[in-house]
Amino acid sequence: MRLKDKVAIITGAANGIGLAAAERFAREGAAVAMADYDADMGITRAQELKEKGLKVEFFQVNVADRKSIDSMAVAVKAAFGKIDILINNAGITRDGMLSKLSPDDFQAVVDVNLSGVFHCTQAVLPFMLEQGSGKIINTSSVSGIYGNVGQTNYAAAKAGVVGMTKTWAKELGRKGINVNAVAPGFISTGMTAKVPEKVIGQMQGMVPLGRLGKPEDIANAYVFLASDESDYVNGTVLHVDGGIMM
Ligand code: CAA
Ligand code: NAI
Repeated sequence: MRLKDKVAIITGAANGIGLAAAERFAREGAAVAMADYDADMGITRAQELKEKGLKVEFFQVNVADRKSIDSMAVAVKAAFGKIDILINNAGITRDGMLSKLSPDDFQAVVDVNLSGVFHCTQAVLPFMLEQGSGKIINTSSVSGIYGNVGQTNYAAAKAGVVGMTKTWAKELGRKGINVNAVAPGFISTGMTAKVPEKVIGQMQGMVPLGRLGKPEDIANAYVFLASDESDYVNGTVLHVDGGIMM
């Protein structure tokens, strides 16, 4: 087991990539705090994982709301005794061409995808500093590296995540905390299910491996960056995109 006795918080764990990661982390021996806005899905999915004998608990949070995140960090520490790993995975899209994108849709995406990563990291930091160790993994995107038509808000937030990752890697490395990011390509989840059919075809055509990714493809990368195997990896952005970016 690669995460035996570790305690991990995974945001956005009620669906998609975060859900796959919650199951994978628990199978690798971690106790997993599944933090998500979506309580209906979160409670149901957490119960299903518990019935498989896995150690998980659901925590309802809004990553854009600092009070909610501070309470969650304290509750996770109380429930599991420590916090070793934070996966900043929660995210949303509100796609629109620049000419039509509303300021509200710009702000909503920045609040969740960029400020949410800041809030969650700052909330768990005192616990990691106290124990002198930790692994923080942020979720960027192919859109944040290369840009993507219709995603001004999302690309800005995901590029910002890369900047924060590198800054925190420099600030926290000497404190025993590694900070890295994963930049997924196009992955089959509820997020991509909203994309128009013809655009999905274009996305697939961009991938040398010839298929969209699976949530498990990203969960695998999270496990590596959360495990001891990546102890000398810091400040990197791991592209898990089937080779879109070369
Ligand atoms: N490349 C070039 N041009 C494009 C384009 C593309 N990928 N997509 C659309 N256009 C062009 C259209 O051909 C059209 O051109 P004309 O005006 O000359 O006809 C123009 O842009 C407007 O396009 P739409 O008619 O589609 O405009 P719309 O306002 O109805 O919809 C949209 C705009 C909401 C952005 C819609 O096109 C859309 O949803 N696109 C998909 C955006 C996308 O890729 N999202 C990724 C979601 S998955 C994710 O975010 C995860 C991740 O990290 C990658
Ligand atoms: P998803 O839509 O399947 O799951 C996202 C989860 O985040 C949902 O459970 C949702 O309830 C939760 N969430 C949304 N807003 C929240 C908030 N304010 N507070 C707490 N939880 C919230 O999406 P998916 O595809 O699993 O995405 C996971 C991460 O991967 C996101 O950060 C996304 O931007 C990123 N990503 C996804 C790609 C894809 O193609 N699916 C590609 C690149 C990056």
